[in-house]
Amino acid sequence: MTKKTPTIPKHVAIIMDGNGRWARQQGLSRLKGHAAGAESVQAVLRASKEVGIQYLTLYAFSAENWVRPKDEIAGLMKLLQTYLSGHEHQLHENKICLRVIGRQEKLPQPVLKKLAQVEAATSNYKEGTLILALNYGGRAEIVDAVRKITNQVKQGKLSPNETDEKTVSNNLYAPDIPDPDLIIRTSGEMRISNFLLWQSSYAELYVTDVLWPEFREQHFKQAIEAYANRHRRYGDIQ
Ligand code: FPP
Repeated sequence: MTKKTPTIPKHVAIIMDGNGRWARQQGLSRLKGHAAGAESVQAVLRASKEVGIQYLTLYAFSAENWVRPKDEIAGLMKLLQTYLSGHEHQLHENKICLRVIGRQEKLPQPVLKKLAQVEAATSNYKEGTLILALNYGGRAEIVDAVRKITNQVKQGKLSPNETDEKTVSNNLYAPDIPDPDLIIRTSGEMRISNFLLWQSSYAELYVTDVLWPEFREQHFKQAIEAYANRHRRYGDIQ
């Protein structure tokens, strides 16, 4: 029997779900659940470095999350800002570049300012890339790409017949970042929830019942191991 060669995914994307459920189980506020979730982000960054993941995308705030109570949104934004301020040094120490995807303009000004500062300060790092999906929606991203493409056509820079899959990929928020190989979702829900719709075409999906605040290095490594045992066929037989 032939043994499969273990492969490490180049790009792992995570739907961090279950902060609220974890908080309820613990008798804590939802915001405490999000704060605990920030510890899991730390754990996953450590594990990614250890395993050798080049791109890590985290779904930190979806375009749909604005319907949540105002104080939860404000708390999440504050948490994000505090997290970036408190952990920026780790990006420098590890030579990790920060990127943001999503309709950023809707985010609060102080968050935008901090994100722009950290993105600029880390832009030359090559050891790895941390991508935060903020006010991100997969359909919105495709709509934004379509707008860019139709403008190029209108300006005569592109002919409609030349427009192909590559054109769409090239007009997404981060065209230089390869598609995710593995998408992990915590807390058991079997949904993609408008995450990386275009880019996830051939991604392997891994769903675990572990709630995000309890997700640690060993859970991440289990997902990587499961990925290594999958057989990606890209539509071919075998
Ligand atoms: C989903 O749990 C989680 C979020 C909407 C926010 C994720 C944010 C963090 C983990 C905070 C820190 C992030 C960074 C990048 C520092 P949920 O509230 O939907 O949980 P539920 O489905 O159990 O209610």
